[in-house]
Amino acid sequence: MPKKVAMIGTGYVGLVTGVCFASKGHDVTCVDVIPEKVEQINEGKTPIFEPGLEELLLNARKEGRLEATLDVASAIKKAELIFIAVPTPSKEDGSIDLSFIEEVSHTIGKTIREVTDKKTVVVKSTVIPGTTEKVVGRIIEEESGKKRGIGFGLAMNPEFLKEGKAVEDFLDPDRIVIGAIDSESFNEVKALYEWAEAPILETSPTTAELIKYAANSFLAMKISFINEIANYCELLDVDVKDVAQGIGLDERISPKFLRAGAGFGGSCFPKDVAALYSHSKQLGRELILLRSTLEVNKQQPLRTVELLREEVGDLSGKTIAILGLAFKPDTDDMREAASIPIIEQLIKEGARVKATDPIAIPNAKKILSHPNINYYDKINDVLKEADALILVTEWDEYRQLSPSDLKSLMKGDVVIDGRRIWNPELFHKHGLRYRGIGLGKKKN
Ligand code: UGA
Repeated sequence: MPKKVAMIGTGYVGLVTGVCFASKGHDVTCVDVIPEKVEQINEGKTPIFEPGLEELLLNARKEGRLEATLDVASAIKKAELIFIAVPTPSKEDGSIDLSFIEEVSHTIGKTIREVTDKKTVVVKSTVIPGTTEKVVGRIIEEESGKKRGIGFGLAMNPEFLKEGKAVEDFLDPDRIVIGAIDSESFNEVKALYEWAEAPILETSPTTAELIKYAANSFLAMKISFINEIANYCELLDVDVKDVAQGIGLDERISPKFLRAGAGFGGSCFPKDVAALYSHSKQLGRELILLRSTLEVNKQQPLRTVELLREEVGDLSGKTIAILGLAFKPDTDDMREAASIPIIEQLIKEGARVKATDPIAIPNAKKILSHPNINYYDKINDVLKEADALILVTEWDEYRQLSPSDLKSLMKGDVVIDGRRIWNPELFHKHGLRYRGIGLGKKKN
Protein backbone atom coordinates (compact mmCIF):
# COMPACT_ATOMS: atom_id res chain seq x y z
CA MET A 1 0.00 0.00 0.00
CA PRO A 2 1.50 3.37 -0.98
CA LYS A 3 2.01 5.74 1.93
CA LYS A 4 2.01 9.52 2.04
CA VAL A 5 5.35 10.75 3.28
CA ALA A 6 6.63 14.21 4.22
CA MET A 7 10.44 14.43 4.14
CA ILE A 8 11.59 17.47 6.10
CA GLY A 9 15.09 18.40 4.97
CA THR A 10 16.35 17.62 1.49
CA GLY A 11 20.02 17.34 2.26
CA TYR A 12 21.89 14.27 1.24
CA VAL A 13 19.98 11.77 3.40
CA GLY A 14 16.53 13.37 3.03
CA LEU A 15 16.69 13.61 -0.73
CA VAL A 16 18.01 10.10 -1.32
CA THR A 17 15.44 8.65 1.09
CA GLY A 18 12.56 10.67 -0.37
CA VAL A 19 13.42 9.86 -3.98
CA CYS A 20 13.94 6.17 -3.23
CA PHE A 21 10.61 5.91 -1.36
CA ALA A 22 8.91 7.57 -4.34
CA SER A 23 10.61 5.08 -6.67
CA LYS A 24 8.93 2.32 -4.64
CA GLY A 25 5.48 3.82 -5.19
CA HIS A 26 5.00 6.06 -2.16
CA ASP A 27 3.79 9.67 -2.42
CA VAL A 28 6.54 11.92 -1.16
CA THR A 29 6.59 15.62 -0.39
CA CYS A 30 10.09 16.97 0.16
CA VAL A 31 10.33 20.10 2.30
CA ASP A 32 13.21 22.53 2.41
CA VAL A 33 13.80 26.13 3.45
CA ILE A 34 15.93 27.00 0.41
CA PRO A 35 13.72 28.12 -2.52
CA GLU A 36 16.34 27.31 -5.19
CA LYS A 37 16.60 23.73 -3.94
CA VAL A 38 12.84 23.27 -4.01
CA GLU A 39 12.71 24.66 -7.54
CA GLN A 40 15.55 22.45 -8.69
CA ILE A 41 13.93 19.30 -7.29
CA ASN A 42 10.62 20.19 -8.94
CA GLU A 43 12.48 20.57 -12.23
CA GLY A 44 13.78 17.03 -11.77
CA LYS A 45 17.34 18.09 -10.98
CA THR A 46 19.26 16.90 -7.93
CA PRO A 47 21.16 19.55 -5.94
CA ILE A 48 23.76 16.89 -5.02
CA PHE A 49 25.75 14.49 -7.17
CA GLU A 50 24.81 10.90 -6.44
CA PRO A 51 24.90 8.17 -9.12
CA GLY A 52 21.41 7.04 -10.19
CA LEU A 53 19.54 9.64 -8.15
CA GLU A 54 18.59 12.06 -10.93
CA GLU A 55 17.06 9.31 -13.08
CA LEU A 56 14.89 8.16 -10.16
CA LEU A 57 13.92 11.75 -9.34
CA LEU A 58 12.94 12.52 -12.93
CA ASN A 59 10.87 9.40 -13.10
CA ALA A 60 9.12 10.12 -9.79
CA ARG A 61 8.33 13.66 -10.99
CA LYS A 62 6.94 12.33 -14.27
CA GLU A 63 4.74 9.84 -12.47
CA GLY A 64 3.57 12.49 -10.01
CA ARG A 65 4.88 10.71 -6.93
CA LEU A 66 7.22 13.40 -5.65
CA GLU A 67 7.08 17.13 -5.20
CA ALA A 68 9.11 19.66 -3.26
CA THR A 69 7.74 22.58 -1.29
CA LEU A 70 8.67 25.36 1.12
CA ASP A 71 5.33 24.93 2.88
CA VAL A 72 6.11 22.61 5.77
CA ALA A 73 2.66 22.82 7.41
CA SER A 74 0.75 21.67 4.35
CA ALA A 75 3.25 18.86 3.75
CA ILE A 76 2.79 17.66 7.35
CA LYS A 77 -0.99 17.90 7.18
CA LYS A 78 -1.34 15.67 4.15
CA ALA A 79 1.26 13.07 5.23
CA GLU A 80 0.79 9.82 7.11
CA LEU A 81 4.48 9.63 7.97
CA ILE A 82 6.64 12.68 8.72
CA PHE A 83 10.39 12.13 8.39
CA ILE A 84 12.88 14.44 10.07
CA ALA A 85 16.06 14.56 7.97
CA VAL A 86 17.60 17.87 8.99
CA PRO A 87 21.32 18.43 9.72
CA THR A 88 22.86 17.87 13.15
CA PRO A 89 26.10 19.90 12.91
CA SER A 90 29.04 19.31 15.24
CA LYS A 91 29.86 21.66 18.07
CA GLU A 92 33.38 22.53 19.27
CA ASP A 93 33.43 19.72 21.86
CA GLY A 94 32.35 17.07 19.32
CA SER A 95 28.76 16.93 20.56
CA ILE A 96 25.95 17.60 18.07
CA ASP A 97 23.79 20.67 17.72
CA LEU A 98 20.12 19.69 17.93
CA SER A 99 18.65 23.10 17.16
CA PHE A 100 17.29 22.11 13.71
CA ILE A 101 15.79 18.92 15.16
CA GLU A 102 14.15 20.97 17.92
CA GLU A 103 12.85 23.58 15.51
CA VAL A 104 11.26 20.95 13.27
CA SER A 105 9.77 19.17 16.29
CA HIS A 106 8.10 22.42 17.38
CA THR A 107 6.68 22.88 13.88
CA ILE A 108 5.42 19.31 13.71
CA GLY A 109 3.84 19.61 17.17
CA LYS A 110 2.07 22.88 16.36
CA THR A 111 0.82 21.54 13.04
CA ILE A 112 -0.51 18.21 14.26
CA ARG A 113 -2.41 20.01 17.03
CA GLU A 114 -4.74 21.15 14.24
CA VAL A 115 -5.35 17.72 12.64
CA THR A 116 -7.49 14.77 13.68
CA ASP A 117 -5.71 11.86 12.00
CA LYS A 118 -2.86 10.05 13.73
CA LYS A 119 0.51 10.59 12.09
CA THR A 120 3.82 8.86 12.68
CA VAL A 121 6.92 10.98 13.17
CA VAL A 122 10.17 9.30 12.15
CA VAL A 123 13.67 10.58 12.94
CA LYS A 124 16.09 9.85 10.08
CA SER A 125 18.86 12.26 11.10
CA THR A 126 21.71 10.75 13.07
CA VAL A 127 21.03 11.71 16.67
CA ILE A 128 22.53 10.89 20.06
CA PRO A 129 20.82 7.96 21.84
CA GLY A 130 17.75 9.21 23.66
CA THR A 131 17.00 12.17 21.35
CA THR A 132 13.91 10.74 19.62
CA GLU A 133 12.16 10.03 22.90
CA LYS A 134 13.53 12.78 25.13
CA VAL A 135 13.71 15.67 22.69
CA VAL A 136 11.51 15.04 19.63
CA GLY A 137 8.73 13.16 21.46
CA ARG A 138 8.68 15.62 24.35
CA ILE A 139 8.51 18.75 22.18
CA ILE A 140 5.77 17.31 19.95
CA GLU A 141 3.71 16.35 23.02
CA GLU A 142 4.11 19.84 24.50
CA GLU A 143 3.22 21.63 21.27
CA SER A 144 0.41 19.36 20.09
CA GLY A 145 -1.24 18.60 23.39
CA LYS A 146 -1.29 14.97 22.22
CA LYS A 147 0.33 11.93 23.80
CA ARG A 148 2.81 9.75 21.89
CA GLY A 149 1.32 6.37 21.05
CA ILE A 150 -2.18 7.81 21.27
CA GLY A 151 -2.19 11.09 19.35
CA PHE A 152 0.86 10.38 17.20
CA GLY A 153 3.31 7.56 16.47
CA LEU A 154 7.07 7.91 16.97
CA ALA A 155 10.05 6.02 15.53
CA MET A 156 13.73 6.27 14.66
CA ASN A 157 14.96 4.79 11.38
CA PRO A 158 18.72 5.28 10.85
CA GLU A 159 20.35 5.48 7.43
CA PHE A 160 23.36 3.43 6.34
CA LEU A 161 24.20 5.12 3.04
CA LYS A 162 27.67 5.59 1.62
CA GLU A 163 28.34 8.67 -0.48
CA GLY A 164 28.58 7.67 -4.12
CA LYS A 165 26.68 4.43 -3.43
CA ALA A 166 23.68 5.88 -1.60
CA VAL A 167 20.96 4.79 -4.05
CA GLU A 168 22.43 1.30 -4.28
CA ASP A 169 22.73 1.06 -0.48
CA PHE A 170 19.14 2.26 -0.04
CA LEU A 171 17.57 -0.07 -2.58
CA ASP A 172 19.63 -3.09 -1.57
CA PRO A 173 20.24 -2.67 2.16
CA ASP A 174 22.06 -5.10 4.48
CA ARG A 175 19.40 -4.45 7.13
CA ILE A 176 16.66 -2.03 8.05
CA VAL A 177 16.48 -0.83 11.64
CA ILE A 178 13.20 0.54 12.95
CA GLY A 179 13.24 1.79 16.52
CA ALA A 180 9.63 2.41 17.45
CA ILE A 181 7.77 3.31 20.64
CA ASP A 182 5.03 0.75 19.89
CA SER A 183 4.02 -1.86 17.33
CA GLU A 184 1.69 0.52 15.48
CA SER A 185 4.54 2.99 14.83
CA PHE A 186 6.78 0.07 13.83
CA ASN A 187 4.23 -1.27 11.34
CA GLU A 188 3.68 2.15 9.81
CA VAL A 189 7.40 2.53 9.05
CA LYS A 190 7.74 -1.10 8.01
CA ALA A 191 5.03 -0.56 5.38
CA LEU A 192 7.45 1.76 3.54
CA TYR A 193 9.92 -1.08 3.12
CA GLU A 194 7.60 -3.85 1.83
CA TRP A 195 9.83 -4.19 -1.25
CA ALA A 196 13.03 -4.87 0.73
CA GLU A 197 14.41 -8.36 1.18
CA ALA A 198 16.78 -7.42 3.99
CA PRO A 199 16.12 -8.33 7.62
CA ILE A 200 14.09 -5.73 9.48
CA LEU A 201 15.09 -5.18 13.09
CA GLU A 202 12.48 -3.97 15.55
CA THR A 203 14.07 -2.07 18.43
CA SER A 204 13.45 0.82 20.77
CA PRO A 205 14.23 4.31 19.37
CA THR A 206 17.28 4.62 21.65
CA THR A 207 18.65 1.27 20.46
CA ALA A 208 18.20 2.32 16.82
CA GLU A 209 20.03 5.57 17.51
CA LEU A 210 22.92 3.69 19.09
CA ILE A 211 23.06 1.08 16.30
CA LYS A 212 23.79 3.87 13.84
CA TYR A 213 26.60 5.31 15.96
CA ALA A 214 28.02 1.92 16.90
CA ALA A 215 28.12 0.84 13.23
CA ASN A 216 30.05 3.92 12.12
CA SER A 217 32.30 3.82 15.18
CA PHE A 218 33.15 0.18 14.57
CA LEU A 219 34.03 0.79 10.92
CA ALA A 220 36.11 3.84 11.85
CA MET A 221 37.83 1.81 14.58
CA LYS A 222 38.63 -0.92 12.04
CA ILE A 223 40.35 1.68 9.85
CA SER A 224 42.30 3.19 12.75
CA PHE A 225 43.27 -0.31 13.84
CA ILE A 226 44.76 -1.25 10.47
CA ASN A 227 46.44 2.17 10.27
CA GLU A 228 48.13 1.55 13.62
CA ILE A 229 49.23 -1.88 12.45
CA ALA A 230 50.47 -0.22 9.24
CA ASN A 231 52.67 2.21 11.13
CA TYR A 232 54.06 -0.69 13.15
CA CYS A 233 54.63 -2.75 9.98
CA GLU A 234 56.94 -0.02 8.72
CA LEU A 235 59.29 -0.68 11.65
CA LEU A 236 59.32 -4.42 10.97
CA ASP A 237 59.69 -4.24 7.18
CA VAL A 238 56.41 -6.05 6.86
CA ASP A 239 53.75 -5.07 4.32
CA VAL A 240 50.43 -4.18 5.97
CA LYS A 241 48.61 -5.41 2.85
CA ASP A 242 49.82 -8.93 3.58
CA VAL A 243 48.69 -8.60 7.18
CA ALA A 244 45.28 -7.22 6.15
CA GLN A 245 44.83 -10.10 3.75
CA GLY A 246 45.91 -12.62 6.35
CA ILE A 247 43.49 -11.40 8.96
CA GLY A 248 40.70 -10.46 6.52
CA LEU A 249 40.34 -14.05 5.37
CA ASP A 250 39.06 -14.87 8.82
CA GLU A 251 35.31 -14.60 8.24
CA ARG A 252 34.85 -13.05 11.65
CA ILE A 253 37.12 -10.15 10.67
CA SER A 254 36.34 -9.81 6.89
CA PRO A 255 38.61 -7.96 4.45
CA LYS A 256 36.37 -4.89 4.24
CA PHE A 257 37.49 -1.58 5.73
CA LEU A 258 41.00 -2.87 6.26
CA ARG A 259 42.66 -0.57 3.73
CA ALA A 260 45.46 1.25 5.50
CA GLY A 261 46.18 4.77 4.37
CA ALA A 262 46.08 8.45 5.21
CA GLY A 263 43.05 8.06 7.49
CA PHE A 264 39.28 8.37 7.26
CA GLY A 265 37.38 11.55 6.49
CA GLY A 266 33.96 12.59 5.26
CA SER A 267 30.87 13.95 6.89
CA CYS A 268 30.09 10.86 8.96
CA PHE A 269 32.90 8.90 10.59
CA PRO A 270 34.82 11.78 12.23
CA LYS A 271 31.62 13.52 13.34
CA ASP A 272 29.79 10.44 14.58
CA VAL A 273 32.71 8.98 16.51
CA ALA A 274 33.34 12.37 18.14
CA ALA A 275 29.65 12.76 19.02
CA LEU A 276 29.36 9.33 20.62
CA TYR A 277 32.64 9.82 22.47
CA SER A 278 31.55 13.21 23.75
CA HIS A 279 28.20 11.77 24.90
CA SER A 280 29.90 8.87 26.69
CA LYS A 281 32.10 11.34 28.57
CA GLN A 282 29.08 13.38 29.47
CA LEU A 283 27.51 10.26 30.98
CA GLY A 284 30.70 9.54 32.94
CA ARG A 285 31.52 6.32 31.04
CA GLU A 286 34.22 7.36 28.58
CA LEU A 287 34.45 5.07 25.53
CA ILE A 288 38.24 4.76 25.41
CA LEU A 289 38.39 2.88 22.10
CA LEU A 290 36.60 5.77 20.42
CA ARG A 291 39.08 8.27 21.84
CA SER A 292 41.94 6.17 20.44
CA THR A 293 40.17 5.82 17.09
CA LEU A 294 40.06 9.61 16.79
CA GLU A 295 43.63 10.08 18.04
CA VAL A 296 45.06 7.61 15.53
CA ASN A 297 43.07 9.25 12.76
CA LYS A 298 44.33 12.71 13.67
CA GLN A 299 47.95 11.57 13.31
CA GLN A 300 47.48 9.34 10.28
CA PRO A 301 47.43 11.92 7.46
CA LEU A 302 50.68 13.39 8.83
CA ARG A 303 52.36 10.02 8.48
CA THR A 304 52.63 10.80 4.76
CA VAL A 305 54.55 14.00 5.57
CA GLU A 306 56.86 12.06 7.89
CA LEU A 307 57.64 9.57 5.12
CA LEU A 308 58.28 12.49 2.81
CA ARG A 309 60.64 14.13 5.28
CA GLU A 310 62.54 10.85 5.68
CA GLU A 311 63.29 10.95 1.94
CA VAL A 312 63.57 14.66 1.19
CA GLY A 313 64.78 16.12 4.49
CA ASP A 314 63.94 19.76 5.13
CA LEU A 315 60.78 20.62 3.20
CA SER A 316 61.39 24.33 3.08
CA GLY A 317 61.38 25.59 -0.54
CA LYS A 318 60.49 22.14 -1.92
CA THR A 319 57.65 21.71 -4.40
CA ILE A 320 55.26 18.93 -3.47
CA ALA A 321 52.58 17.59 -5.82
CA ILE A 322 49.34 16.42 -4.20
CA LEU A 323 47.26 13.89 -6.10
CA GLY A 324 43.67 13.80 -4.83
CA LEU A 325 41.92 16.21 -2.49
CA ALA A 326 38.44 14.74 -1.82
CA PHE A 327 37.90 12.59 1.30
CA LYS A 328 37.45 9.57 -0.96
CA PRO A 329 37.26 8.93 -4.73
CA ASP A 330 34.13 9.68 -6.79
CA THR A 331 33.04 12.65 -4.72
CA ASP A 332 33.83 16.36 -4.57
CA ASP A 333 33.26 16.31 -0.80
CA MET A 334 36.16 17.86 1.10
CA ARG A 335 34.72 17.50 4.60
CA GLU A 336 37.42 16.22 6.99
CA ALA A 337 39.54 15.14 4.00
CA ALA A 338 43.05 13.89 4.81
CA SER A 339 44.39 16.33 2.21
CA ILE A 340 43.60 19.27 4.53
CA PRO A 341 46.01 18.50 7.41
CA ILE A 342 48.61 17.21 4.94
CA ILE A 343 48.64 20.41 2.88
CA GLU A 344 48.49 22.61 5.98
CA GLN A 345 51.54 20.82 7.39
CA LEU A 346 53.48 21.15 4.14
CA ILE A 347 52.77 24.87 4.05
CA LYS A 348 53.77 25.22 7.69
CA GLU A 349 57.12 23.62 6.88
CA GLY A 350 57.74 26.07 4.04
CA ALA A 351 56.93 23.84 1.07
CA ARG A 352 55.11 24.88 -2.10
CA VAL A 353 52.07 22.78 -2.95
CA LYS A 354 50.72 21.95 -6.39
CA ALA A 355 47.43 20.10 -6.05
CA THR A 356 44.99 18.35 -8.34
CA ASP A 357 41.73 16.43 -8.09
CA PRO A 358 39.26 15.38 -10.81
CA ILE A 359 36.31 17.25 -9.24
CA ALA A 360 37.05 18.57 -5.74
CA ILE A 361 39.21 21.61 -6.64
CA PRO A 362 36.39 24.20 -6.31
CA ASN A 363 35.53 22.92 -2.82
CA ALA A 364 39.19 22.60 -1.86
CA LYS A 365 39.82 26.24 -2.78
CA LYS A 366 37.24 27.33 -0.22
CA ILE A 367 39.14 25.56 2.56
CA LEU A 368 42.78 25.64 1.48
CA SER A 369 43.92 28.97 0.19
CA HIS A 370 47.48 30.27 0.52
CA PRO A 371 49.93 31.95 -1.88
CA ASN A 372 52.01 28.75 -1.82
CA ILE A 373 49.10 26.48 -2.84
CA ASN A 374 48.28 26.23 -6.54
CA TYR A 375 45.61 24.10 -8.14
CA TYR A 376 45.76 22.43 -11.55
CA ASP A 377 43.20 20.41 -13.49
CA LYS A 378 45.80 18.36 -15.34
CA ILE A 379 48.00 15.78 -13.66
CA ASN A 380 50.91 16.68 -15.94
CA ASP A 381 50.85 20.31 -14.79
CA VAL A 382 50.93 19.25 -11.16
CA LEU A 383 53.88 16.93 -11.66
CA LYS A 384 56.03 19.45 -13.52
CA GLU A 385 58.72 20.92 -11.21
CA ALA A 386 57.67 18.65 -8.34
CA ASP A 387 60.42 17.43 -6.02
CA ALA A 388 58.06 14.81 -4.65
CA LEU A 389 54.46 13.71 -4.80
CA ILE A 390 51.95 12.50 -2.23
CA LEU A 391 49.01 10.42 -3.38
CA VAL A 392 46.16 11.29 -0.97
CA THR A 393 42.94 10.09 -2.70
CA GLU A 394 42.88 6.87 -4.71
CA TRP A 395 41.03 8.03 -7.84
CA ASP A 396 41.04 5.39 -10.59
CA GLU A 397 42.85 7.66 -13.02
CA TYR A 398 45.82 7.88 -10.62
CA ARG A 399 46.05 4.11 -10.46
CA GLN A 400 46.78 4.13 -14.20
CA LEU A 401 49.82 6.43 -13.89
CA SER A 402 53.00 4.68 -14.93
CA PRO A 403 56.24 5.13 -13.01
CA SER A 404 58.06 6.06 -16.21
CA ASP A 405 55.63 8.93 -16.81
CA LEU A 406 56.11 10.15 -13.26
CA LYS A 407 59.87 9.88 -13.61
CA SER A 408 59.96 11.89 -16.82
CA LEU A 409 57.55 14.59 -15.63
CA MET A 410 58.78 15.19 -12.08
CA LYS A 411 61.90 17.09 -11.15
CA GLY A 412 62.54 14.85 -8.15
CA ASP A 413 62.11 11.13 -7.61
CA VAL A 414 60.16 10.76 -4.35
CA VAL A 415 56.71 9.18 -4.41
CA ILE A 416 54.64 8.83 -1.22
CA ASP A 417 51.70 6.51 -1.68
CA GLY A 418 49.16 7.49 0.98
CA ARG A 419 46.63 4.86 -0.13
CA ARG A 420 48.88 2.05 -1.32
CA ILE A 421 47.56 1.94 -4.87
CA TRP A 422 50.86 1.42 -6.70
CA ASN A 423 53.24 -1.48 -7.04
CA PRO A 424 56.38 -0.65 -4.99
CA GLU A 425 58.71 -2.94 -6.95
CA LEU A 426 57.70 -1.44 -10.29
CA PHE A 427 58.28 2.07 -9.01
CA HIS A 428 61.59 1.09 -7.52
CA LYS A 429 62.67 -0.49 -10.79
CA HIS A 430 62.10 2.83 -12.53
CA GLY A 431 64.44 4.57 -10.14
CA LEU A 432 61.78 6.24 -8.02
CA ARG A 433 62.12 6.50 -4.27
CA TYR A 434 58.75 4.99 -3.39
CA ARG A 435 57.42 4.99 0.17
CA GLY A 436 53.99 3.75 1.16
CA ILE A 437 51.94 3.70 4.34
CA GLY A 438 52.46 0.36 6.04
CA LEU A 439 55.49 -0.69 4.02
CA GLY A 440 58.98 -0.92 5.46
CA LYS A 441 62.02 0.58 3.75
CA LYS A 442 63.59 -2.75 2.82
CA LYS A 443 60.73 -3.55 0.47
CA ASN A 444 61.69 -0.55 -1.63
C1 UGA B 1 30.06 6.06 5.92
C2 UGA B 1 29.60 4.60 6.12
O1 UGA B 1 30.40 3.72 5.31
C3 UGA B 1 28.10 4.44 5.75
O2 UGA B 1 27.69 3.11 6.05
C4 UGA B 1 27.29 5.44 6.59
O3 UGA B 1 25.90 5.34 6.30
C5 UGA B 1 27.76 6.84 6.28
O4 UGA B 1 29.17 6.93 6.65
C6 UGA B 1 26.92 7.79 7.10
O5 UGA B 1 26.97 7.75 8.33
O6 UGA B 1 26.09 8.50 6.51
P1 UGA B 1 30.92 7.51 3.80
O7 UGA B 1 31.32 8.53 4.82
O8 UGA B 1 30.17 7.92 2.60
O9 UGA B 1 30.02 6.36 4.52
O10 UGA B 1 32.27 6.87 3.27
P2 UGA B 1 33.09 5.48 3.38
O11 UGA B 1 33.12 4.87 2.04
O12 UGA B 1 32.64 4.66 4.51
O13 UGA B 1 34.57 6.05 3.69
C7 UGA B 1 34.83 6.85 4.82
C8 UGA B 1 36.31 7.15 4.93
O14 UGA B 1 37.05 6.00 5.33
C9 UGA B 1 36.98 7.62 3.63
O15 UGA B 1 37.83 8.72 3.91
C10 UGA B 1 37.78 6.42 3.17
O16 UGA B 1 38.91 6.79 2.42
C11 UGA B 1 38.18 5.81 4.51
N1 UGA B 1 38.47 4.36 4.43
C12 UGA B 1 37.50 3.47 4.13
C13 UGA B 1 39.76 3.91 4.68
O17 UGA B 1 40.68 4.72 4.97
N2 UGA B 1 40.02 2.56 4.65
C14 UGA B 1 39.05 1.66 4.36
O18 UGA B 1 39.37 0.46 4.35
C15 UGA B 1 37.78 2.13 4.10
